[in-house]
Parts: sequence; structure tokens; C-alpha cells
Amino acid sequence: MNVVVLGSANLDLVYEVERIPAPGETVLSRGFASFPGGKGLNQAIAAARAGAEVRFIVALGRDDAGARLAEDARDAGIALLDRSVDAPTGTAVIYVDPRGENSIVVNSGANGELTDLTATEREAITTADLLVLQMETPTATVEAAVAAAAKGGATVVLNAAPSTGVTTDLLTEIDILIVNEHEAAEIAGEPAGTGERSLLSELTGHGCTVIITLGEQGALIGVPGEEPVKVPAHKVDAQDTTGAGDAFVGAFAAALDGLTKDALVRATEFATSAAAIAVQRKGAVPSIPTLEEVRQFREQRSRETPSR
Ligand code: RIB
Repeated sequence: MNVVVLGSANLDLVYEVERIPAPGETVLSRGFASFPGGKGLNQAIAAARAGAEVRFIVALGRDDAGARLAEDARDAGIALLDRSVDAPTGTAVIYVDPRGENSIVVNSGANGELTDLTATEREAITTADLLVLQMETPTATVEAAVAAAAKGGATVVLNAAPSTGVTTDLLTEIDILIVNEHEAAEIAGEPAGTGERSLLSELTGHGCTVIITLGEQGALIGVPGEEPVKVPAHKVDAQDTTGAGDAFVGAFAAALDGLTKDALVRATEFATSAAAIAVQRKGAVPSIPTLEEVRQFREQRSRETPSR
């Protein structure tokens, strides 16, 4: 699978806290570490570790963080189509609580400078089998990439995280939307707590396949005009959920071998295994498993529960 990922790269500044601070509250951190992250980089590395050939379109600052993230991407075997820009490399401040839940603030920095696709970037997209996008880069660039993919015939997977800027027009032009429940409700313009099946039916109405990730509950797949399919998650002890959604998206992209319902279910099963491994480890990029690790995990789980 020849995958192009266009998206963000951030240096994640991760604080382990007893609880996520409330407004006006000061809490002391129990530990601190910095890790490579950013939804684009995480997904590119997840796809590469899962066996795809990956090119990554990204904007990095001319600083130590930018050099470190570029090296991490190359170490994962990714071909970088990177721009050096006059802005600091993106950063994310992340609080992780003892249940592994997190809260994230991103300073886009260089990611905000990923505007106006170059001829080389367009060429990469038009020659890809699959294009993977998120919403941590400017919306106009995401739209331009979707248009370039349409010229070459690449399948477009949009992970609408964060969901700001996602229009119904964009949904009509992509093939697969991957969102969590919160993002699904925001895009559909429905209140939090709206049932996932109802959100799925609303979003597939725009013509794309929709996968709603449900954390410990697994994922729900909706193909327009067909009955939804639920793929259960694996039960594991979560340490840090940061980047687990990205591990899911990248692994899904690498494993997708068609757009039939069966192919979507197979790729989603593989992706839920990758995410189950990721939540048991700290950090975004360091938590992302290799193909071999996912295979071993799946073999072990199928011995434990033969029905899966
Ligand atoms: O999805 C997790 C990622 O969100 C982190 O790595 C952080 O950088 C933000 O982009």
C-alpha cells in the first residue's frame, strides 16, 4: 500500500497528573517527558510500522524540535516531503491522568504554514493509493489535497480531529471518515450524547463510509445504505490513551485492501488491535506498534478467545 499522509507534527510535552486540572486549579505533575507526536506524524508512523510505504507532507520549524521530529520520521522509514518554515515547530501540552485519559492543547506553529500545495506535493498525492488527512493543518490545504487525490484516484481517509472546519461539502468528496463520538456529534451538529447509530446514519447520508471509534467499546462501521457493523475492542489496561486514535487510523490505512464491507471490517479489526497495544504504552509515537507486534497480539488474543 502506497500511502501519503498530509498533516501535523508536534513535540508533545507530557505531564502525568493525579487529575486533569480544573479551571483556576494548580496541580503538581508526577512525571514529565517529551515525545514525538502530532496527529499527522503519529498516523504516518503507524502506517509505516504496519507495513505501508509512506510519504509524509509536513511543515517543520527550523529548530531542534523540527530536526528531532524529521529524524523520528526517517527512522520509521518514511519518505519526508517536508517544508522548513519561519515558525516554531508545533507543540502539544498533554496532561495524562492515572486512568490513561488525557487532555491536549496544541500550539500549531509551523503546522499552520502548510498552505498552497507545491507541484511535488500534488504529484505525491496524485500517485498515491491512499491519502490520509486530519484537521490539525489549514482546512484549505486539506481541501486542496482532497481535490488532488480525486485527479489521481487515491482513496481518501479523513480523520476529522479536531472536527473544526469540516464541512458537509468535504464529506461528499472523501471516501472514509474516521471520528470519535464527540467529533461525530460536532460534525453532524447534534448535541453530545446523541446515539452513535443515529450519528452514523446522519453522516453516511453525505455519501462517505463512516467509522466511529468508541474507545473501550470498539468501533462502528457505516457504509451508505447498509446496516452498520460493530467491531469490538480488546480489553486491556490503559496507561496512556495519547495517540491511540492515530495508531488506529495509520494501521487501518496500511491494512485496507478495498472498499467492500469485508475489507473495511478486516482493516478495522487490525486497527483496534494496534490501538489496544498503543494504550498500554506511554507517549504517542513510542506507543505505536509494528506489524509483527500487532500479529503476535492478534494470535495471542485469538488463542484466548477463539471466536475473535
Ligand atoms: O492524537 C494525539 C496527538 O494530538 C498528540 O500527539 C498531539 O501532538 C496532538 O496532535
